[in-house]
Amino acid sequence: MAPGEFLPHALAGAPLVSGRGGGKGPPMANRKKIALIGAGNIGGELAALVARKELGDVVLFDIPQKTDFAKGKALDLEQNGAVLGYDASIKGTSSWADCAGADVLIVTAGIPRKPGQSRDDLVATNLPIIRSVADGAKEHCPDALVIVISNPIDAMVYEFKRRTGFPRERVLGMAGVLDSARFQLFLAREANVSVKDVRAMVLGGHGDDMVPVLSACTINGVRATELISKDKLEAIVARTRKGGGEIVGLMGTSAYYAPASSAVAMAESFLLDQKRLLPAAVYLDGEYGYKDLYMGVPVVIGGKGVEKIVELPLTAEEKEMLAKSAKSVQGITDVVKAAS
Ligand code: APR
Repeated sequence: MAPGEFLPHALAGAPLVSGRGGGKGPPMANRKKIALIGAGNIGGELAALVARKELGDVVLFDIPQKTDFAKGKALDLEQNGAVLGYDASIKGTSSWADCAGADVLIVTAGIPRKPGQSRDDLVATNLPIIRSVADGAKEHCPDALVIVISNPIDAMVYEFKRRTGFPRERVLGMAGVLDSARFQLFLAREANVSVKDVRAMVLGGHGDDMVPVLSACTINGVRATELISKDKLEAIVARTRKGGGEIVGLMGTSAYYAPASSAVAMAESFLLDQKRLLPAAVYLDGEYGYKDLYMGVPVVIGGKGVEKIVELPLTAEEKEMLAKSAKSVQGITDVVKAAS
């Protein structure tokens, strides 16, 4: 059969390529555009999820030395669409022009942790990277919702916002959803229940002082404190705080499946105006008693970005933990602010 023979007469002979496939031509104009800055482990998984969920067309951006790597990953993922049955253009690039007009920008550019390193150890390497990404974003994607994943997240997202001047509604850090997922898994395993029924939130900075909020943690509405003993809960809180490090110790590099899913949950809530209530690092301007600081708090993410910051009635102990976490975040944020 000749190409086009099976098509209705009016379409016969019309080009079959509509701007998708193989990265040829522009993406479909009515599709959302999601630019992923960093085509490494998290970037690749982000692209896979965004494509599979058909949230929009994907641009997978990396440094010039990794252009072919990004292109190869993009092509592999486009071919994956033929097997799994999704429609998405996925383009590997090192040109900011390809990211122009993105609706969502997810930033994973930088280096991940190695065993023995803390997230704060990454500042020296990742700060110049986040600055260059901020400059590219400001020029080419001035209207995007931005989700920063590069570590140390709270300081990197602070710098991104400071440098771009983007409104706080549109610049978030992804940590809370991931830390909460880890917390939820450990709680589910201990209580021997489905992880789907565990609701829990981790607030504060994305570091060892993060605040798993036990008072807001339930198993399908039943307080976790009624089902799990105090000492077991304490062990779970401790393991959650070191959750990222546990994986770095095992794999020799950072986690990427759950971090990518967490950022996609945030992006999806924005793109589909879902108004999900999720913990995320946002710029605090007096909320929870903190000012000029990025830290994880519960927010509603909808079509306008961060539509609401929800202030929970924390216990005195939780407030104290949050203050300790804020102090750590302030310390690393001050380092970033002072760096020229
Ligand atoms: N612009 C774009 N991409 C960059 C830049 C830059 N200026 N600098 C580095 N990159 C790219 C790297 O070339 C690499 O492909 O970022 C990618 C990072 O990928 P990985 O090394 O696989 O790291 P990943 O596991 O994806 O983690 C990325 O997220 O969770 C954090 O701590 C983690 O900071 C790390 C980041």
